[in-house]
Amino acid sequence: MKIAMVGSGYVGLVSGACFADFGHDVVCIDKDESKIARLKDGVMPIYEPGLDSLVASNVNARRLSFTTDLAEAIEGAQAIFIAVGTPSRRGDGHADLTFVYEVAREVGEKLANDAVIVTKSTVPVGTGDEVERIIKDTGTAHNFAVVSNPEFLREGAAIGDFKHPDRIVIGAEDDLGRDIMREVYRPLFLNESPILFVGRRTSELIKYAANAFLATKITFINEMADLCEKVGADVQDVARGIGMDNRIGSKFLHAGPGYGGSCFPKDTLALLKTAEDYDSPTRIVEAVVKTNESRKRAMGRKVLEALGGAEAARGKKVAMLGLTFKPNTDDMRDSPAIAIAQTLGDAGVKVAAFDPEGMDIAKPLMPDVSMCEQPYEAIEGADAVAIVTEWDAFRALDLNRVKELANAPVLVDLRNIYNPDDVRAAGFEYSSVGRS
Ligand code: UDX
Repeated sequence: MKIAMVGSGYVGLVSGACFADFGHDVVCIDKDESKIARLKDGVMPIYEPGLDSLVASNVNARRLSFTTDLAEAIEGAQAIFIAVGTPSRRGDGHADLTFVYEVAREVGEKLANDAVIVTKSTVPVGTGDEVERIIKDTGTAHNFAVVSNPEFLREGAAIGDFKHPDRIVIGAEDDLGRDIMREVYRPLFLNESPILFVGRRTSELIKYAANAFLATKITFINEMADLCEKVGADVQDVARGIGMDNRIGSKFLHAGPGYGGSCFPKDTLALLKTAEDYDSPTRIVEAVVKTNESRKRAMGRKVLEALGGAEAARGKKVAMLGLTFKPNTDDMRDSPAIAIAQTLGDAGVKVAAFDPEGMDIAKPLMPDVSMCEQPYEAIEGADAVAIVTEWDAFRALDLNRVKELANAPVLVDLRNIYNPDDVRAAGFEYSSVGRS
């Protein structure tokens, strides 16, 4: 089947490359000429493990190509995916649908055959209806169906998530939509990945509800972590103890500095806006958003405490290990590292940082932080080392070397990647999250 993927960002590129790998004939489209030129040269616009080789092998097999020409790309395509960005609209947090609607109009105008138009971008409830209206208004003579098919890809694990999904959600209102989508996902179907057919509005809401629920789970365990510190309990054991209950489940119960990234912060805000518009408040999600936001600066204050308090911290130096919102990505969007560095900077603390992939993007976002070539360079002369992102590279630091290079043996582990007894036995003052 020929598939057109409009938008060659994170979601479009991963989805397009995976569909090609299933054997479909995929054309990825983007307005950004330099991005398309680089993709043609095999240069990925994002860091995602395994993506470059997946793209290369499917380009070589002539199943995957790139273009800026939408009309040419959608000609003969039975499925046209919209995978463009839906950033938070400035000022109010609503998802900005400008790009989605622009693509819908252009697709309608240039449609050359019957096709299913699929929104993969995360879009608020009712967007599919509007996309349908826009395409109808172009006066196209071809039959079309508008389908919702949200993505559930985690950055850093996106290819695995695409190829082995817990479920595929399809929101379709008619047989044309359902039949084509069954064909698109047939290879996964054969793998017995469950495919859930629901109404289009339901599908749109499933995406937001899933992300809001996961954000809630994280925020819940983060608050339990704070309580653990006060009452002398261990949050990791609490997470294990509740996670073994199948009704709760063990995933997304890892306490840390708060969630960030391209999805949870934006999608929770957009869900709040939808709830407000429909006069159906989601108080739990409201609390999650507020709690997570304030947690990031609270983590900065935790580092200040390790330096002996805000007064004593002035003029001292912190080595920050990890800047991205999570490992195996170069994504800095809403990363807790930004607020933590600001809190430290506000208190007159100097910050030197290292991140395996995120420093280029981080630099303009954190102008006062000095970026280092490797972790031990950041640690040199530091009064405390703070682990902010759990990159593998930080899991087995040479603690003796850290002690030699640092000004003081103080380790603040905001991802709980070290065993407190081991680190203390190595002579460190150690603090972590939710382990008193
Ligand atoms: C998320 C969803 O998982 C994915 O399904 C969705 O469609 C896009 O958003 P992603 O943002 O890539 O994916 O990362 P994820 O692994 O979900 O982590 C999000 C944030 O939560 C990170 O900041 C991570 O550090 C944090 N997190 C996650 C925790 O603090 N604790 C956990 O237990 C899990």
